[in-house]
Amino acid sequence: MASSRLARVAESPTIRIANIANKLKHDGIDVISFSLGEPDFDTPKNISDAACKALYSGETHYSPSPGIKPLREAIAKKLQTENNLDFDASNVMVTPGAKQAIFEVMMSVLDDGDEAILFDPAWVSYEPCIKFAGAKPKWVPTDPENVFLPYDIGDHITDKTRLIVVNSPCNPTGGVFGKDKLKEIADLAIDHNLLVLSDEIYEKILYDEKHYSIGAMEGMHDRTITVNGFSKSYAMTGWRLGYVAANETFLHDFQKIQSHSVSSATTFAQYGAIEALEGDQQPVEDMVAEFRHVAISL
Ligand SMILES: Cc1ncc(COP(=O)(O)O)c(C=O)c1O
Repeated sequence: MASSRLARVAESPTIRIANIANKLKHDGIDVISFSLGEPDFDTPKNISDAACKALYSGETHYSPSPGIKPLREAIAKKLQTENNLDFDASNVMVTPGAKQAIFEVMMSVLDDGDEAILFDPAWVSYEPCIKFAGAKPKWVPTDPENVFLPYDIGDHITDKTRLIVVNSPCNPTGGVFGKDKLKEIADLAIDHNLLVLSDEIYEKILYDEKHYSIGAMEGMHDRTITVNGFSKSYAMTGWRLGYVAANETFLHDFQKIQSHSVSSATTFAQYGAIEALEGDQQPVEDMVAEFRHVAISL
């Protein structure tokens, strides 16, 4: 007797496969799980120490719904210096995971009957979020011979298209969008008056390529909603910490959903995230070096 909204989506295959893998492991079977994108590292100690310190010093109360101010400021600074995105703390909302941010964005900007462009294949949760919002995914093919870059994007834009989802570096393909491809997408978004959701959660797990934020391109500041988080870059999957940055009108809408659902991200965890952004970045480099080493030896 599920609601019609819920009937539109299936359960997360990633979580289903992870549960099966966990059960097999529990039964003593040696399995390698390719389900959740989970770094094989523990969170760097300086980050855990900062969260523990906050926990023991009484940071156990409700957080402001959009996140604690020093973290929002640290994120805005990071977006300015690393991504060339001109935002301040009032443009940033901390969420319990990037996934929650993506859900809030889709629910805020999509209406019944709208279409959202996804590049095929895409991370598993975009499509259900689009469907929850009453909209339809429009799948654009990608070229496996050319790092899975999407092509003929314009052919899939209709008068119902509202949003293009960009995920670079991409899960699951590993494809990285260079400046040219991002410019092509930006031009289409501007010409057709579309929004772009840029999920940059894998920005630091890069080997030789360079990461660019589409929101920093000319004409894109107010039509790009940038999502990122701490799970992958800082091995903080279980902390459930992500964020979204956008112009204040959008942010106000996202906050409505957040304040009436999860309220906020966990208070003391947010102090760990400040340390993640402002503390030693060597653990990130070491982790990426290890990923590269394993990738090369495969
Ligand atoms: C592309 C992509 N976006 C977002 C997320 C969600 O990350 P978080 O752990 O911050 O919710 C994931 C997690 O696997 C992902 O692969």
